[in-house]
Amino acid sequence: MKIPFLDLKKQYRTIKKVIDSVIQNVLIDGAFSGGPYVEKFEKNFAKYIGAKYAVGVNSGTSALHLAMIALGIKEGDEVVVPANTFIATAWAVSYVGAKPVFVDCKRDTWQIDPAKIEKRLNEKTKAIIGVHLFGQPFDIDQVLAIAKNHGLFLVEDCAQAHGAKYRRKTVGTFGDIACFSFYPSKNLGAYGEGGAVTTNNFEYAKRIKFLRNHASVKKYEHEEVGFNMRMDGIQAAILDVKLKYLNRWNRRRKEVARIYQTGIKNRLIIMQSQPILTESVYYVFVITAVRREEFMQHLKKHKIETKIHYPIPCHLQKAYRHLGYRKGDLPVAEDFSRNCVSIPLYPEMTNQEVKRICRIINEYGD
Ligand SMILES: Cc1ncc(COP(=O)(O)O)c(C=O)c1O
Repeated sequence: MKIPFLDLKKQYRTIKKVIDSVIQNVLIDGAFSGGPYVEKFEKNFAKYIGAKYAVGVNSGTSALHLAMIALGIKEGDEVVVPANTFIATAWAVSYVGAKPVFVDCKRDTWQIDPAKIEKRLNEKTKAIIGVHLFGQPFDIDQVLAIAKNHGLFLVEDCAQAHGAKYRRKTVGTFGDIACFSFYPSKNLGAYGEGGAVTTNNFEYAKRIKFLRNHASVKKYEHEEVGFNMRMDGIQAAILDVKLKYLNRWNRRRKEVARIYQTGIKNRLIIMQSQPILTESVYYVFVITAVRREEFMQHLKKHKIETKIHYPIPCHLQKAYRHLGYRKGDLPVAEDFSRNCVSIPLYPEMTNQEVKRICRIINEYGD
């Protein structure tokens, strides 16, 4: 039997009745763009994260973009970004005309390496964006200390970490602003696009609400150039339902991860290390494999689907050619991108499927 990398249809079947009925409600109420369903979800999401404010937008990328504007990042500024992340983290910096400064990752967690940040700071640096990559919080204490010492903003990219914890506290309020994606595959995924920012700062929340709605408080009056980055009512209604399941789904993700962590015993495979202060929600289960192509073929032969997160680190993307990075500049991230491979992990997997994957992985290289 084939094991897909992800099966969103399987999850939908488990909540179909309630999802179908809330979509119907939005249609009946005609609350399509912004409106009461968005406000309700924002309230519940802020409560879940433990933040004073949550502002719903139309994607995680928009959340990051608006966060940059709210913090006043602009042309000529520099923002520290991990080289090992999904590219949207860096896009936000570029959108406001600032320069992303890429920092290498650690060998064991593949997260931004705090020891390598300070060398990359100068008088132009205004902020650090930390990414809770693959569901696991980065070294918040160290990164926050650097940000404080140098008077920099800290933005948390929580796109892959809804409900993850650091020192037993949910991520999303450690920095000045946190940005979430509700892309369908995420731990909390919409049935379309969606995103949110969370913050404890009233001014930032107010400004992001204003900007997402064409920079308008009074209809057809615009004080500056704004954006249409509002959240859809249908997506908000869906997310509000799914939020109630998030802890249950995250628990199941952890169970699946545990089976992998105890069941995979192969010297050609390395798993992401789990520092003591972090509680991952396993957005994806990434490993590194010696001879990755051969490993992926081996799994494919046994009908197990795999993916690569991510094959090219940000600093070597063509889009950032003009920044002048060369191969070998950030060796750990580059090494990782050559060897990483993601195996299936989602709440609806059966133990039998997970154990079968462990067995097939353990047979690799025999
Ligand atoms: C780390 C990270 N940042 C930002 C984003 C952007 O989110 P979105 O796809 O909702 O724009 C994503 C997800 O796609 C992500 O994984």
